[in-house]
Amino acid sequence: MISEVSASDNPEDGWFPESVAIGYDDPGGANSPQVVMPAVDLLESLGDGPVLEFAVGTGRIAVPLAARGVPVSGIELSRAMAARIAARPGGDAVEVTIGDMTSTRVDGEFSLVYLVYNTIGNVTTQDGQVEVFRNAAAHLGPGGLFLVEVGLPDLRRLPPGQDVVPFAMAPGAEGGGYVGFDQYDVVTQQFTSNHVTVSPDGAGKFRRIPFRYAWPAELDLMARIAGMRLKDRFADWDRSEFTGESTKHVSIWEKGVSA
Ligand SMILES: C[S@@+](CC[C@H](N)C(=O)[O-])C[C@H]1O[C@@H](n2cnc3c(N)ncnc32)[C@H](O)[C@@H]1O
Repeated sequence: MISEVSASDNPEDGWFPESVAIGYDDPGGANSPQVVMPAVDLLESLGDGPVLEFAVGTGRIAVPLAARGVPVSGIELSRAMAARIAARPGGDAVEVTIGDMTSTRVDGEFSLVYLVYNTIGNVTTQDGQVEVFRNAAAHLGPGGLFLVEVGLPDLRRLPPGQDVVPFAMAPGAEGGGYVGFDQYDVVTQQFTSNHVTVSPDGAGKFRRIPFRYAWPAELDLMARIAGMRLKDRFADWDRSEFTGESTKHVSIWEKGVSA
């Protein structure tokens, strides 16, 4: 049987309820030091004072950044995800506010606000994404920075008449396995990321998460609406050059002195 989410999940936790949070910190993948540490290195080099992570999740990035001595706060929608932060060694150092990053305000002024791991796309309207930029700017002092890490939509892999791009196909032991694919609507800039996991006994899980994609130029315009200008755009956390072949970007906007 394929099931989308567990009946015991709290709907207020959105797309990251307890049934997702429970496996979010599993070792490997996005939790491996090879992925986490380059992000922490760049963020540490940019912050000059307190920093704020929008959609801080389970503290995957925030906790190791705080361990470097950077004062880190976070905003997070899902209580189930946020509950994992305090459970991490050193997690107490991260101050978390439960709320929506489009509108929730945290006291204080920050030198850097950051939003990683494609999470700008979890806000599925253009107006909502503009509010994320405005809210980031509202937390920054003059010269403060807003950093976003997000993948580029895979539209170059869509032949005419097709709307699905598979990104993973991993047969597992004894008939189980995992299939991942994105489904695009190029008119509305909406897409869903789809994850089908089947265990050897035939039980399955289908997780379908909605996103809105935006090209870098649209994000630059959102930044300008919020009083910020592009400072740097990299292809990855290692500051590699962003090119036509890049599959993601790490972009940094600076708040104007008079904004
Ligand atoms: C892919 S996880 C990323 C978590 C963390 N930043 C990381 O890098 O591991 C996305 C997170 O964004 C949170 N989220 C989604 N929309 C949000 C919103 N509008 N406001 C605050 N948090 C949100 C989800 O609950 C989830 O914890």
